[in-house]
Amino acid sequence: MTKIAPSILSADFSKLGQEIKDVEKGGADYIHIDVMDGHFVPNITIGPLIVEAVKPITNLPLDVHLMIENPDNYIPMFAKAGADIITVHQEAAKHLHRTIQLIKDNGAKAGVVLNPATSADAILPILPDVDMVLVMTVNPGFGGQSFIRSMIQKIEQIATWRKEMNLSFEIEVDGGVNVHTAKECADAGADVLVAGSAVFGRSNRKEAIRDIKNAVKG
Ligand code: DX5
Ligand code: ZN
Repeated sequence: MTKIAPSILSADFSKLGQEIKDVEKGGADYIHIDVMDGHFVPNITIGPLIVEAVKPITNLPLDVHLMIENPDNYIPMFAKAGADIITVHQEAAKHLHRTIQLIKDNGAKAGVVLNPATSADAILPILPDVDMVLVMTVNPGFGGQSFIRSMIQKIEQIATWRKEMNLSFEIEVDGGVNVHTAKECADAGADVLVAGSAVFGRSNRKEAIRDIKNAVKG
C-alpha cells in the first residue's frame, strides 16, 4: 500500500509534538522533515536540534530531506539526532557516491533527490546503492506549490529501471501531492507520497490522510 509522509513544514510549530502525534494517530507512515539552509534553497527551516526533539515523541521513521549545500558536513549530526532516512540532492552532492556511503556509515537509510530540472539519467549509476529515490514535483523551498505534472514521466522512468535492474529502493514523490495528484504518482510507480499542506492544511488529519490513500486506490 502507498505510504504517506506528512511534511511538518506545514505544521503548527508552536505545538509540533501534538501535530506529529496527530498524524501518527491519523495513519501516517513516515514523518517528512524538510531541512533548508538559505543557500541551496531560498528558505531556512529546521536543524538537527528539532530532529532530536521530535525523535522520542513518535515511533514513525523520520524521513529527513536535506535541501542544503555541503551535506557531508551535516549528515553525521542528523543521523545522531535520530534521522532514519536521509535524502540528499543530486545537485548538492559533489561526490554523490561518497555522500550516500557516508549516510549508510552513520546508520541511516540513504536516498537521493532530483530537482524538477534534473534528468533521471543523473542518478542511474547510483541506483544500486540507494534505499530511496525522491522525485521533486515542485521546486524545493516552500510548501503549498503546484504539482509539476511533467515529472510523472521521470517517476515512470525510475520505476522502469528499478524493475529492469531488479532493485528494491522506494520511490518517493514530494511537492503538490493531494487528492487530485496522488493517484497518478502511485500509478507511475511511487511508493511514498509526501504531503504537507494537503495534510496539515486540514483540521482533521486522519480524514486528510485517508482521503489521499483512497484517492490512490481510485
Ligand atoms: C518543498 C518540500 C516539501 C513541501 C511539500 O521544498 O520539500 O516537502 O513541504 O509541501 P506541499 O505538500 O504543501 O507541496
Ligand atoms: Zn521535502
